Amino acid sequence: MTIGFANDHTGVALKRLLMQHCQSKGYACLNFGADSTQSVDYPDFAHALATAVLTHKVDIGFAFCGTGNGVAITLNKHPHIRAGLCWNATVAQLIKQHNNANVCVIPARFVTEQQAVAIADAYLDTVFEGGRHQTRIDKIDIGIK
Ligand code: RB5
Repeated sequence: MTIGFANDHTGVALKRLLMQHCQSKGYACLNFGADSTQSVDYPDFAHALATAVLTHKVDIGFAFCGTGNGVAITLNKHPHIRAGLCWNATVAQLIKQHNNANVCVIPARFVTEQQAVAIADAYLDTVFEGGRHQTRIDKIDIGIK
């Protein structure tokens, strides 16, 4: 399982922390994010992660910006990307269990390091439930199948 990471300048520290955390859990990690705190444009990085997921370069991703909304809005423009905004571990569990989200989005300015790790663990350790949730997911995409 390979995980991609995307972030703007607000998410550099949490991205690095979660990359190390995921590597320590045995995941391969690919970085598509900014590596300096100089102001950059979040869509550039979110599009790169979405492309990596859609071309199977990575299986899933984590994305970060200040509120998480900029990267989430950008990622969800791509058909078959399901990016879920997670502000706590319970929400992170549910975006996998119910939405089978392929990107977990973290609002870098609003979570602590400890909360970010808990969000990552909940997302990674939860299994998609399928069934009625798959039926609902099948109704999401409006673009090319
Ligand atoms: C950057 O200041 C901020 O706008 C960005 O990180 C993000 O929160 C946008 O949605």
